[in-house]
Amino acid sequence: MAYSRVIVFDTTLRDGEQSPGCSMNLPEKLQMARQLDRLGVDVIEAGFPIASEGDFEAVQSVAEGIRRPIVAALARATRDDIKCAWEAVKKAARPRIHIFLATSDIHLDYKLKITREEALNQARESVGLARSFCDDVEFSPEDATRTDLDFLCAVVEAVIDAGATTVNIPDTVGYTTPREFTRIIETIQQTVRGIDRATISVHCHNDLGLAVANTIAAIEAGARQVECTINGIGERAGNASLEEIAMALRVRNDVMPFETGIVTSELYHASQLLTEVTGVAVQPNKAIVGRNAFAHEAGIHQDGVIKNRLTYEIMTPQSVGVPESTLVLGKHSGRHALGLRCEQLGYQFSRRELDRIYKRFTALADEIKVVEDHHLTSIITSELEEAAA
Ligand code: KIV
Ligand code: ZN
Repeated sequence: MAYSRVIVFDTTLRDGEQSPGCSMNLPEKLQMARQLDRLGVDVIEAGFPIASEGDFEAVQSVAEGIRRPIVAALARATRDDIKCAWEAVKKAARPRIHIFLATSDIHLDYKLKITREEALNQARESVGLARSFCDDVEFSPEDATRTDLDFLCAVVEAVIDAGATTVNIPDTVGYTTPREFTRIIETIQQTVRGIDRATISVHCHNDLGLAVANTIAAIEAGARQVECTINGIGERAGNASLEEIAMALRVRNDVMPFETGIVTSELYHASQLLTEVTGVAVQPNKAIVGRNAFAHEAGIHQDGVIKNRLTYEIMTPQSVGVPESTLVLGKHSGRHALGLRCEQLGYQFSRRELDRIYKRFTALADEIKVVEDHHLTSIITSELEEAAA
């Protein structure tokens, strides 16, 4: 089967950094950028240079220090923003200017207080200006999914005409659904003149928990760039999670003939590094990188995994860089899992001995929920002492 390549645009250092508690200083951003490079992302959006001196310096350092991926700088559709973005990113091996301007009536009327006609002209002129600096220009009609579809298509056509090389369709407020988003992307692809001169990108927020599903739907409808973040961090409920998109495409490539350049064995490390740098932990049940993503507690599941991992694991922990899958010992665990852990700790017991240990173990698990190795060692030791007495 021929696989179509999907470009992975990581915005952990820009949209991700905008989430509460996730701000990073320059050395931290550089450390993250180096890991994103190892991870194989195609584009690193390093920041919003006009926002602060710190952001400007961070974009500049990433642009100068990270040479393989494209480095993008964000700008509003104004002369000052675009010039500032270019100053920050111009030393990159492969620089990109990313311009955004809202296009929904809600944003035009209440936030920007301009007409559709004025927005269209501003979008066209800003892309023209950016192209005078840089060959690689991305344009985002902010709040695209709440924008009148005919007007959205007109804006996309105008910016491609002005030289945009990527048109990004953001679901800024996480409002769309997979079927609706499919229709938006297909309409753009089928009706916009010149669309074959640009890459269609998507940028989904997770307010309804649909960011990854919407992103996948968009890829199936023709998008070839996805914007996402490590651990799904980002404004409000976050962005589409990079690790979930990458693994969904890899695990289900039987039904989705797409590939990315992501080195999936670096995913866990990227997630851990981000947690360490920001101090914001991922929820234990987070897909792919959460503490419980490869943990099995129920006795039936543990028994199945011990016999053959394929029973309850659709990917190996190693494929995403998690060192070992863990059998969590708790009140739902069975004798089989307990026996295995005892063996891993260096003890071999007869059925009768194991029964006695199991009794103590379930009593403790009722009390403390998760029985760690050090608890088990203490149960075993007292059981052995009692037997010897
Ligand atoms: O969510 C959004 O619309 C954005 C744009 C700047 C792409 O982050
Ligand atoms: Zn966003």
